[in-house]
Amino acid sequence: MKEITTIKEVKQWLKPYLKKNLRIGFVPTMGALHEGHLRLVRQSTAENNITVCSVFVNPIQFNNQEDLSKYPRNLSQDANLLRKSGCDMMFCPGLEEMYPGGRIDNVELEFGLLDKIMEGKFRPGHFRGVVIVVNKLFNIISPTNAYFGKKDYQQLMVINRMKEALGLAVNIIACETVRENDGLAMSSRNLRLTIGERQVARKIFEVLYKVREKGTKTPVWELREWAIKKIQEDSRFRVEYFEIADRETLMPIESWGQKTQAIALAAVYLGDVRLIDNVELFS
Ligand code: PAF
Repeated sequence: MKEITTIKEVKQWLKPYLKKNLRIGFVPTMGALHEGHLRLVRQSTAENNITVCSVFVNPIQFNNQEDLSKYPRNLSQDANLLRKSGCDMMFCPGLEEMYPGGRIDNVELEFGLLDKIMEGKFRPGHFRGVVIVVNKLFNIISPTNAYFGKKDYQQLMVINRMKEALGLAVNIIACETVRENDGLAMSSRNLRLTIGERQVARKIFEVLYKVREKGTKTPVWELREWAIKKIQEDSRFRVEYFEIADRETLMPIESWGQKTQAIALAAVYLGDVRLIDNVELFS
């Protein structure tokens, strides 16, 4: 596997593949790779001629300095895992390479409420940072297919809208959330949980699945209140939001009505670690 840190070298390395019109699969990450990322890499290697994975902790998508400084980083382990998963090139640029002179070339896109609710509300500026970096990475790599996990469901919807707004040719491939044996959604942030917190963290997944089971038999508001109360029975948990929303627009649903495509999404603090998860609901 080739390891590259500069944009110029990435473009040079990709040139022969692009010339031959080969399929380039791309997995953008912020490193601290786990099985969730590696599944995306393996799916990409199965569906493309070449797979590129970027590892870049993007500072402009963090609205909280402490969260940024505590974000786990382990580049040599990431490189080993990517090599074993069949990745062909790891792009791991420094800050200066991505934002020369600290300049952030902004693309002003309007997403309506999509990037202002839930994650957008509690992490102001987060999606602006994601859109800037992902658009820049797409420009550098020119992928045929780009792979995103459904764990960050709102991010996936924002990226889909960015693709539409900018008329990008890349196919956005949505991949299922990968879970630990007890159901906890895999996340780099799980590494920051204490042993005690890790033992109870499955509660978020359990409540989400219970919500799916209860489904349309229970009014939406009642289900939401029940879920928040259930998670917070243990005082180590603090629910930031728990929403039941339309799966496409992510607008909160007030009543079941004709809606057949819904999703329950949650952001929950466990101690000082913020975890997000979601499950798709069927009615
Ligand atoms: O999902 C992530 O890890 C990040 O938001 C991404 C897409 C790599 C952009 O920095």
